[in-house]
Amino acid sequence: MSFGAAAASRLAGKTILITGASSGIGRATAFEFANAAGGDVKLILTARREASLLAIKEELEKAYPKASVFPIKLDVSKMAEIDSFMEKIPAAAGTVDVLINNAGMVHGVEKVGEITQSDIDIMFQTNVFGLIALTQKFLPGFITRNKGDIVNIGSIAGREPYPGGAIYCATKAVVKSFTESMRKELVASRVRVIEVDPGQVETEFSVVRFRGDKAKADAVYAGVEPLIAEDIAEVIVFAVSRRENTVVADTLVFPSHQASAMIMHRKL
Ligand SMILES: NC(=O)c1ccc[n+]([C@@H]2O[C@H](COP(=O)([O-])OP(=O)(O)OC[C@H]3O[C@@H](n4cnc5c(N)ncnc54)[C@H](OP(=O)(O)O)[C@@H]3O)[C@@H](O)[C@H]2O)c1
Repeated sequence: MSFGAAAASRLAGKTILITGASSGIGRATAFEFANAAGGDVKLILTARREASLLAIKEELEKAYPKASVFPIKLDVSKMAEIDSFMEKIPAAAGTVDVLINNAGMVHGVEKVGEITQSDIDIMFQTNVFGLIALTQKFLPGFITRNKGDIVNIGSIAGREPYPGGAIYCATKAVVKSFTESMRKELVASRVRVIEVDPGQVETEFSVVRFRGDKAKADAVYAGVEPLIAEDIAEVIVFAVSRRENTVVADTLVFPSHQASAMIMHRKL
């Protein structure tokens, strides 16, 4: 069987839930799954921006008529929304086979001593508490069925803290630690725990970091060629479409000009 055909058969009929699917890596991952599965996939797409999710559903179902797309509004920073989330999944979406914990954000570049409590709260609520709470909702079912994939999107920031990122880096370090504990706890099961850590990817991430200031966001990418969301989507789909016994446990993905959080070659 060809590489692509093997991946398609392993993904066929699966239900995949992606958080933060309204833009960037999450959105690209939805398209990549539909493509790799030859359309034979059910995608539950969540984020706060419902209109974006609806537009993505329309685009996906047009490109992949066999695919079923279920957009559901979910703010992962709100525990009450996570608590009632499973009831909102329509029966037609089936049982979730793959949970992609991708929703995440960064606010600001302030140094310790200058960081507002609201920025600290929102980064931890979104990147850490939301990811943990949603995982706790789905994992018991995965364990009962002895199958399922959890893909957590970490970051180079979780491996190498940098100045101006104390809180964001700390949240991603939590993701890394949490993910590794969970993988060790599940070693006797068929549940796969996968972490993908991107380096620099051009998405809405920097626009959010600089609170909508596009010029500041663009300056982050001056003189470099960042990854695009599709590069990370390919890695996520690759990991999920391996043989059941294969766990692509931990992956760090850089663009070629980047060798660490701080080492970046710029052609200026
Ligand atoms: N871009 C990079 O350089 C980079 C590098 C390393 C790691 N990452 C990680 O990659 C993941 C995806 O980021 P991205 O680069 O694709 O950025 P992005 O384009 O800004 O996408 C972030 C996604 O997360 C969603 N989100 C944010 N807060 C949310 C909340 N409270 N509840 C639900 N969804 C929420 C956003 O949707 P709504 O606004 O519609 O809610 C959006 O769909 C994040 O975990 C990020 O930390 C990115």
